[in-house]
Amino acid sequence: MANGWANDDPVREPKGEQIVESRHPATMAAQALGWIDETTKALIPPVHLATTFIRDADNQYRAGFSYGRPTNPTFVLPEALLARLEGGASCLTFASGMAAATAVFLALRPGDHVVAPQVMYWGLRNWLKSCAADRGVVVDFVDAGATEALAAAVQRGRTKLVWIESPANPTWTITDIAAAADIAHGAGARLAIDSTVATPILTRPIALGADIVMHSATKYLNGHSDVVAGALVTARHDEFWERIAAIRTSHGAILGSFEAWLLLRGMRTLHLRVERCGRTAQAIAEHFVGHRRIVATLYPGLPDHPGHAVAARQMRGGFGGMLSIRVAGGESAAIAAAARVTVWKRATSLGGVESLVEHRASIEGPGSPAPPDLLRLSVGIEDAADLIGDLEQALAGAG
Ligand SMILES: Cc1ncc(COP(=O)(O)O)c(C=O)c1O
Repeated sequence: MANGWANDDPVREPKGEQIVESRHPATMAAQALGWIDETTKALIPPVHLATTFIRDADNQYRAGFSYGRPTNPTFVLPEALLARLEGGASCLTFASGMAAATAVFLALRPGDHVVAPQVMYWGLRNWLKSCAADRGVVVDFVDAGATEALAAAVQRGRTKLVWIESPANPTWTITDIAAAADIAHGAGARLAIDSTVATPILTRPIALGADIVMHSATKYLNGHSDVVAGALVTARHDEFWERIAAIRTSHGAILGSFEAWLLLRGMRTLHLRVERCGRTAQAIAEHFVGHRRIVATLYPGLPDHPGHAVAARQMRGGFGGMLSIRVAGGESAAIAAAARVTVWKRATSLGGVESLVEHRASIEGPGSPAPPDLLRLSVGIEDAADLIGDLEQALAGAG
């Protein structure tokens, strides 16, 4: 590409003139790091559809791009922005959150031991139980909300990766990231975290000791339920990160150009959306505490949540937009309540501007840690009173 990018592989970055390290994340995100096209002075980058790039006469690729599978100019800016927001050394985007997460496990060697949470994104848990096991990677699942359980599970010299998710689907279990990093590093392992729900606005795991941060960028980072994407951010460049990058290139699980462009557009408003979703989620959680049709409200922002104290320490500016309610009357009452909503949308996924409700056990199937009476709520940016009123009428009619 002619303009706008520095050529310092492997950390590709937009040229640095407008980038000031100390700027607030809201400023960095809103301005996409201040990128301006040198030729046209456009504030918004183009979508690069090219799959191949000209080689210099002396056989070099000085622009930094050769072919569309290793990388693509449209990836560069969302990757640079996310690396900056997370305080990491580099970012790789992927075709989905699952492609990003599985690349970390595929970079392990047969025989490597992994510690992972019992409560985590179910799709990845299922993959770990089947495909990772087939490759000889040995995974122990523990209660990652209990630091002692993590400490007891790691095996010095054998454990190569501790994987955590915080807050974790669908009970919003909180893991103490700094403690988990100490435990992992003490055993000679890396700490990787699925930080999809926290987003870099609320938690910066690398500053707490994490080595790799993973996002399903399908969720808050994009924020508009119109892109499937994933991302990894590394604390440093090392041989493990190189292996992950090689896996992305060889497996080809790359983001499409248009998706990368949409992701960057979504990230410009990440700060506003995350703040608003978190404020409304807190209001909804507090409203339903002690409600006669609800057995429990699970939200890290409530003082009675088992992870509240740790969340208050490691999350800043709120506790996120995800909560769950356990409906009095069990599974059938929960499904009946979900059937009656009109403002909330009955759908899977999370982190979009529209609020979603989902009977989680139905999607996770047998072996799920989701209680059968649990409804997962992804709070969007609608009016809080509309959302509370709709849930009230749905619960009243379901009882
Ligand atoms: C917390 C979390 N991690 C990972 C994933 C997987 O991401 P994707 O659907 O983008 O592959 C999801 C998807 O629901 C998720 O909620």
